[in-house]
Amino acid sequence: MKGIILAGGSGTRLRPLTGALSKHLLPVYDKPMVYYPLSVLMLAGIRDVLVISSRSHTELYQEILGDGGRLGIRIAYAEQEEPRGIADALVIGADFVGDDPVALILGDNIFHGPGFSALLRDSRRHLDGCALFGYPVRDPRRYGVATVDATGRLLSIEEKPRAPRSNLAVTGLYFYSNDVLGIAKNLGPSARGELEITDVNLSYLAQGRARLTELGRGFAWLDMGTHDSLLQAGQYVQLLERRQGEWIACVEEIALRMGFIDADACHRLGREMAASDYGRYVMEVAARGAASPAASPAAAPAD
Ligand code: G1P
Repeated sequence: MKGIILAGGSGTRLRPLTGALSKHLLPVYDKPMVYYPLSVLMLAGIRDVLVISSRSHTELYQEILGDGGRLGIRIAYAEQEEPRGIADALVIGADFVGDDPVALILGDNIFHGPGFSALLRDSRRHLDGCALFGYPVRDPRRYGVATVDATGRLLSIEEKPRAPRSNLAVTGLYFYSNDVLGIAKNLGPSARGELEITDVNLSYLAQGRARLTELGRGFAWLDMGTHDSLLQAGQYVQLLERRQGEWIACVEEIALRMGFIDADACHRLGREMAASDYGRYVMEVAARGAASPAASPAAAPAD
């Protein structure tokens, strides 16, 4: 399975923060925003990732993430000239995806909660069509909204409905079978002139090939489109990391746990950042990993 992070757009709702900086490189407490979606793809066992950003920002992502080799993965880059909708990522990324299934994630989404890695791997294993993830929100009108029946079967999806039929938002993480490339290619723009991801999902729903897993209570799904939500996300991460001493979206730790890199490589990455708590945590994790190597790659699916 391939992974795509959509980190395009001009971040107008975050001005003036995004005057010179790319939105998805803004700090979310102790790390750049793009680490969070990257960590989700890595936890799903994905080692080939395409980062899509606007042309003026591509070099910045390359500077931060490189070719991914340091994390034992491969990162490629593509440009989106202007925001044309989320489904445009599946058009831009078609060659990169090739014949594989694909996971698409929005560059400003944070997912955090118990059992998430197992859930990702399970969704990947059972993928036929599309796998969506739903999350209850107070104001569903801002999102794609899903309804499910008592057995959890997906019944409907509506994009930003004025009168939502449920409070279940469709989050910005989508798993698709390879035929999504054809669906995205043939998609026409919506009334707001965009290639809507909801239209892609509706096409799978019509075929009876759409599944939705609810991320329930105790789970955190955060997006960072406004100054307040950006700050709240940072505070959430700070609170949990400080309280538990377990870092969220530490990509070096995940690379080690998934068996993408060994403890020595992880330690070297930490040492380069030894002046920060983050770097010291990475070294600590490496030392623990070296002490119990059996604990690390067990979870990694073949990929
Ligand atoms: C997009 C999707 C919407 C989804 C949301 C998740 O909305 O169109 O279906 O619920 O992402 O963040 P947008 O952020 O483009 O308004």
